Amino acid sequence: MTRIVRVRGTTMALMLGLVGLGSTLAGCEAGEGPIVAPPPPPAEYADKHMPAGWWNDEKIIEEGRQIFIGAKNIDVNCASCHGKDGKPVKAGARDFRNAERMKLYSDSVWLWRISEGVPNTKMKAWKSKLPEEDRWKVMAYERTFGLKGKEWDVVKKEWVPAGTAAKADEAGAPAATPASKKTAAPAPSTPGKS
Ligand code: HEC
Repeated sequence: MTRIVRVRGTTMALMLGLVGLGSTLAGCEAGEGPIVAPPPPPAEYADKHMPAGWWNDEKIIEEGRQIFIGAKNIDVNCASCHGKDGKPVKAGARDFRNAERMKLYSDSVWLWRISEGVPNTKMKAWKSKLPEEDRWKVMAYERTFGLKGKEWDVVKKEWVPAGTAAKADEAGAPAATPASKKTAAPAPSTPGKS
């Protein structure tokens, strides 16, 4: 019996830490409960970011809208809970019009939640129904409800006017990385049969 005590202790300490962090950042918002920053994304999502140019791409945003309203795949209908115009129709569904809350979500956190869902809520994991690029598209649309015309700046770690975010390379490394890193990239291999 005693063997799990330590594990429990650690888990409890972690949980208390999170609760503490939550209440420090908590604000007040009718309907959805206090505004609390989401937890950081797990490692496998932390370095994933919106594909370059997509925040501003009207075609991508429209494709995202089609996914959101269930027009692309009837089994994926975000609007059935989050509402066609972003006004939630199911109790507890996240209100993306609430910029004060949504600006606390990085693109990585957002993708993580769409991919894996939120445990013990109606928000389920969508990764089996939506390939990653479709998850980015639907997010590009969702953010228009409260963060229209904004994009996530990977370096500053905040939402900024679309088109003004500092460029980050594919690996998600900050643009502040010395330029020498670029020159070290291997030349693309020449296609050809061996
Ligand atoms: C069956 C209802 C339902 C459907 C369908 C649904 N959601 Fe949700 N969603 C919820 C609820 C409820 C929450 C709030 C979860 C919570 O309390 O953190 C939520 C939260 C979210 C969040 C925020 C997560 C967080 O940590 O606050 C995102 C992003 C999201 N949904 C995106 C989507 C997308 C994209 C789709 C469609 C692919 C979708 N949802 C479909 C019910 C739904």
